[in-house]
Amino acid sequence: TNPSHHAWKKAHTFTASYYHHLLLNTVEGEEALAYLKARGITEEIIKKFQIGWSLPRWDGLTNVLKQREFDLDNMEKCGLIIRKDQGDSFFDRFRGRIMFPICDDKGQVIAFSGRILHDSTEDAKYMNSPETDLFKKNEVLYNLHQARVAIRMKKQVVVAEGFMDIIAFHRAGVENAVGTMGTALTQQHVTHLKRLTNELLFCFDGDKAGMEAARKALEATQNDRQLKRSVIVLPDQADPDDFLSVKGPEELQQFVAEKGLSEMSFYMLYHRKGLNLKQDSDVLHYTNQLLELIAKRASPIEQSLYVKQLAEDTNLELEVLQQQLRKLLASRA
Ligand code: GTP
Ligand code: MN
Ligand code: MN
Ligand code: MN
Ligand code: MN
Repeated sequence: TNPSHHAWKKAHTFTASYYHHLLLNTVEGEEALAYLKARGITEEIIKKFQIGWSLPRWDGLTNVLKQREFDLDNMEKCGLIIRKDQGDSFFDRFRGRIMFPICDDKGQVIAFSGRILHDSTEDAKYMNSPETDLFKKNEVLYNLHQARVAIRMKKQVVVAEGFMDIIAFHRAGVENAVGTMGTALTQQHVTHLKRLTNELLFCFDGDKAGMEAARKALEATQNDRQLKRSVIVLPDQADPDDFLSVKGPEELQQFVAEKGLSEMSFYMLYHRKGLNLKQDSDVLHYTNQLLELIAKRASPIEQSLYVKQLAEDTNLELEVLQQQLRKLLASRA
């Protein structure tokens, strides 16, 4: 192991409490605190997730790290500060952002993501620490360390996109939720999760990007026979946090408990997005895509179930669809 990792961890722990202190206890943090409260985030939640605030200055954290005698070269390597023009001076990476500490599965802070206060087209909404030996974006899941016990207990993990979504689930009493932080679900993520459970419930944003993320997550896991996967599609393009704001905690909890779609039901929804099943051409398109999928992916029992559903969706005769499916199956055999 790299000896500087110890200092990296120490610095991240220190920096997380520094940002957290700025948010909760200083005048400089007041606007950010008001922003979070307006989004329904209480001080209790701020503490639970150790949310913080980085000053809108170039030398806020840099000065404090210097005072505490952290080696600045090493602090640059772990991504907390940035070197100025190849010289010997440094500036803060995160400035004027709401800070979310990202932890490894032991709860050790290894990175940050910072959110701007005022949405604009100029700045990225979220900015993350750079990739290091300690922070591998393809492996880390937000909140895994806090969700572990609940995942084991409920024998299921809810996988969502964003920081605010994981916090929304927590507010709704759904504590077995982890976040991919906007990246695609990877084999490494799945490996981590499978140590805790084989049941994955994807709950990405209800918009187009979220539907694509769900499709990709299903595809990435489709050959793993041990996994049980299902998908929640939230209405009106909402993400879990939007849904909580509009509908409240009970409805979010209930949605998660009751509205999981099987893989094939998700694909039915996915493929009929934007189609009008009162139009012949759309019916044909939809039917062909679904029959292909059913032939490829479904067990015989599922085949019978989904062909029936397809007949209802399209008003086509069941017998015709069954015949077409048999043809497809024969051509694949
Ligand atoms: P809020 O507006 O705070 O509710 O954020 P959100 O989570 O709804 O954001 P969005 O759905 O756009 O993105 C989902 C997740 O992708 C975020 O939580 C981030 O982890 C990540 N993400 C979003 N925007 C950016 C970005 O500009 N840069 C990076 N690196 N990640 C982003
Ligand atoms: Mn976005
Ligand atoms: Mn989104
Ligand atoms: Mn979102
Ligand atoms: Mn959101």
